[in-house]
Amino acid sequence: RTIAIVAGGDSSELVVSLRSAQGLYSFIDKERYNLYIVEMEGHRWEVVLPDGTKTPIDRNDFSFMENGEKRQFDFAYITIHGTPGENGILQGYFDLLGIPYSSCNVLVSAMTFNKFTCNQYLKGFGIRVAESMILRKGFEITDEEVISKIGLPCFIKPNAGGSSFGVTKVKTKEDIQPAIEKAFKESDEVMIEAFMKGTEITCGCYKTSDKEVVFPITEVVSANEFFDYGAKYNGESQEITPARLPEDTAERVRLLTSAIYDILGCSGLIRIDYIITEDEKVNLLEINTTPGMTATSFIPQQVRAAGLDIKDVMTDIIENKF
Ligand code: DAL
Ligand code: MG
Repeated sequence: RTIAIVAGGDSSELVVSLRSAQGLYSFIDKERYNLYIVEMEGHRWEVVLPDGTKTPIDRNDFSFMENGEKRQFDFAYITIHGTPGENGILQGYFDLLGIPYSSCNVLVSAMTFNKFTCNQYLKGFGIRVAESMILRKGFEITDEEVISKIGLPCFIKPNAGGSSFGVTKVKTKEDIQPAIEKAFKESDEVMIEAFMKGTEITCGCYKTSDKEVVFPITEVVSANEFFDYGAKYNGESQEITPARLPEDTAERVRLLTSAIYDILGCSGLIRIDYIITEDEKVNLLEINTTPGMTATSFIPQQVRAAGLDIKDVMTDIIENKF
């Protein structure tokens, strides 16, 4: 089979995505699959050929030319974080072309990439989420409203975004409006969310027609005020797998991860972030349907901690789509 590792995208997470593509290139079995990285940035869609040169993709059928011959992909491993790879847009494109892909379907991708909508939906299933509100472009909110409805400290973040771009932990009234402005640079909607004091953890999961795999949980100890971009990618944090949680809490996290996967009807590999508050309650932060796959990302760490071979995991995920 010929596989496209689809990377890049049109958000601040572009660079992270290209690193995830490098990770995936090393994780997927090259003896079994013909692997190509496809870079997308705006209207530039290019395949990286084995000699390192790049050639354009024909967007009509996602094909390309190599040595004078037209080549087609059998499968797309989408590792674009943010738009258009994490929010359903590319999923719809591949659906139209009939090319199977790694991630969740259009609806699940679109919903999970809208943090507010997803949290409201899952709240209806009894899942704990922080108090939050949504702010749309063109609408204003006073500092007093934020304080009375959500309180301080709070998180102000792009409603559709990742890798903590545009996220601020707001502690004072003076910081509210600048934080809103910053978040609007990343997204047309801004989510204002109550701060939950506790331990941040994350748990990866995938299911196939005959198997359910929930990985060991990772605990994040950020050296910064929260798990921001520097903490995520510049090593300014400690990531402990398996997390130092009481066994019954860890079990509740694993069960919840599996339950959310089923409630939403996820597909492929996902990773769910949570806060364990001091009362040992498990609170959902967000669901990542194209989780980071850089060499140092959580999922590869969790796969190692589970004693699994990442090549087998990747083969499992790809083969389940055929
Ligand atoms: N958004 C980043 C890549 C993650 O969830 O891992
Ligand atoms: Mg995310």
